[in-house]
Amino acid sequence: AHDINILGIESSCDDTAAAVVRGVPGGAATVVSSVVVGQTELHAAFGGVVPEIAARAHVEKLDVSVKQALTDANLELSQIDAIGVTAGPGLIGGVVSGVMLAKGLSAATGLPLYGVNHLAGHALTPRLTDNVAFPYVMLLVSGGHCQFLIVEDASTFRRLGGTIDDAPGEAFDKVARLIGLPQPGGPAIETCAKAGNPRRFALPRPLLDRPGCDLSFSGLKTATLRARDGVIAQQGGLTGTDQSDLAASFQVAVADVLAEKSRRALISYLELNPARPTLCVAGGVAANASIRSALETVCTQLSVQFVAPPLRLCTDNAAMIAYAALAQMPDRDADGFDLSARPRWPL
Ligand code: KG4
Ligand code: ZN
Repeated sequence: AHDINILGIESSCDDTAAAVVRGVPGGAATVVSSVVVGQTELHAAFGGVVPEIAARAHVEKLDVSVKQALTDANLELSQIDAIGVTAGPGLIGGVVSGVMLAKGLSAATGLPLYGVNHLAGHALTPRLTDNVAFPYVMLLVSGGHCQFLIVEDASTFRRLGGTIDDAPGEAFDKVARLIGLPQPGGPAIETCAKAGNPRRFALPRPLLDRPGCDLSFSGLKTATLRARDGVIAQQGGLTGTDQSDLAASFQVAVADVLAEKSRRALISYLELNPARPTLCVAGGVAANASIRSALETVCTQLSVQFVAPPLRLCTDNAAMIAYAALAQMPDRDADGFDLSARPRWPL
């Protein structure tokens, strides 16, 4: 088997991304180039991602991102061997834009086209970055997703549990807005929490009283809102200290819940398979140092290895999409021009 070059395209949320990954189908690979164009400023005034604005920005940025990824890789399109594109799940306007561009490139060049599940891209990233062996346990924690998976091979994912309402990143973003911090809320809360007292507000740890790996974050957000309103009712407003204490109390609640549910996911995995698994994380929330350290503590206690890919490959990017196409190639056929964009596409 020899190395091939895959062009990856990703546009399912608010990042327009293109990348070139080089490697052996089903084997090791390296990231040759990876371009990510964010849209944070475009959505800032609206307090969330506006699908129509996102789709238009993808249309504007997709072609230039692909061109930049090729330039950075020092390759011509004629030196690419296949195209991997996110075909879902995600905001449909963005996914359609990426799929249309990929089909156009495929039609013009004859290159095989692989529609990739965005979540498979995240879930396979630890193999790209750290060569983690199958099977492993994956915690996906982003603005849009929250689930535990057993990754058995490049095409087989078993879901152990997930959020029954909001994703944790979404909760970070909403709580940031509630306590007067900027977007994206995750990094803002993490910074603000540094000066805070995580024990000042006793916030709930949702679903810890129920067995299993399902999670919930919407009640925690509401409880944070009530704690905020309690302070405002007493003092007429929030001081910087109140903000920090609210941020710290919220953050430690999320970290506790993710750590305890990770412990359960690992234990239920170990009941089926005595070999020590690796716990891998991906998604923007995995950037949070308190959350990472809570997960690391659980892994140390269970003698389990912990792997968190570098942030630029943990958050949305196209290298993971190119890599997922490469990893799945031995198990599947290329897609035809009937490849459709899927807003919902469970793994
Ligand atoms: O994976 P990602 O870049 O995009 C998707 O949602 O797919 O994740 C973005 C989310 C946002 O909700 C952001 O607030 C959150 O990840 N996030 C964080 C941190 N950095 C980003 N949450 C907590 N702590 C952080 N340091
Ligand atoms: Zn994502």
